[in-house]
Amino acid sequence: MFVWFLCIGGAPRGIDVIEFRSVRKQFRSTIAVNNVTFAIDRPQMVGIIGRSGAGKSTLLRIINGLTTASGGEIFVEGRDVLSLKGRTHRRWQRDCAMIFQQFNLVPRPDVVTNVMLGRLNSHSTVKSLFAIFGREEISDALHALDRLGIADQATKRAEMLSGGQQQRVAIARARVQDPKMILADEPIASLDPLNAEIVMSALREIHERDGKTVICNLHTLDAARAYCDRVIGMRAGEIVFDGTPDVLTRDVAREIYGAGEGFNEAATSTSLAQPNKTVKGRELAPAVAG
Ligand SMILES: Nc1ncnc2c1ncn2[C@@H]1O[C@H](COP(=O)(O)OP(=O)(O)O)[C@@H](O)[C@H]1O
Ligand SMILES: [Mg+2]
Repeated sequence: MFVWFLCIGGAPRGIDVIEFRSVRKQFRSTIAVNNVTFAIDRPQMVGIIGRSGAGKSTLLRIINGLTTASGGEIFVEGRDVLSLKGRTHRRWQRDCAMIFQQFNLVPRPDVVTNVMLGRLNSHSTVKSLFAIFGREEISDALHALDRLGIADQATKRAEMLSGGQQQRVAIARARVQDPKMILADEPIASLDPLNAEIVMSALREIHERDGKTVICNLHTLDAARAYCDRVIGMRAGEIVFDGTPDVLTRDVAREIYGAGEGFNEAATSTSLAQPNKTVKGRELAPAVAG
């Protein structure tokens, strides 16, 4: 009898990591995100692609409250995170770490301090005010840097590092934050191909080894194909494609980018060294790029 009850009452589908229900954002006359509905039902690495202005950044920023939605709901663990206020809202923001194109490190402090800043939200106000960190936090930060191959840069001022190194510091900072998911907005758009590969491999590794969902805005097709399990294509604020990289054909890509017959995939390329699946999950190279 009890088993029967479970069969009826238990959810037949997987547990949603995150579910978007008719999410909308309008800026004056511009509809940046138009009734977006989709769910991620298990930890995945999801790439969002589309031309500039398609609504990718707005969608990502709505998730963690950097932009307020005009309508809709985003459910995570049974609650609408768009309706959270005050402390629970801040807690949710800590649960979804954000990585930006321009790294957003604090330039003066050293690298290890920048990484530990990822823990600030979990501190008391006084500790946060004085950025007081314990031995364990320093050790965690160094470990996170080591996993990204840049532990030797720990004592340098963040501003002294190259773009590729700074983005790895930003990823280490996100990792010590111990978020439920990582949101990355064009994390490789400012990087050369080698650093782009290192950063995408690091995000992939966080997904595979730590089991985190990573949602990553990319304006290049090859990065999405090489590193993501699932690709969502946006055009004019709407989802026009949602599938695995193997069904992201040239024709589909042309549709997503809204390009005509002259569509050239190379124009959406970061020239990643080997844009194929073998890149997935491979060991992260040590600090080879500057
Ligand atoms: N703060 C804003 N104020 C007004 N319009 C905005 C703002 N942010 C984005 N937009 C508009 O919303 C649309 C989607 O932008 P965005 O989400 O940045 O696209 P993407 O990241 O795909 O390039 C664009 O038309 C953009 O001009
Ligand atoms: Mg953008």
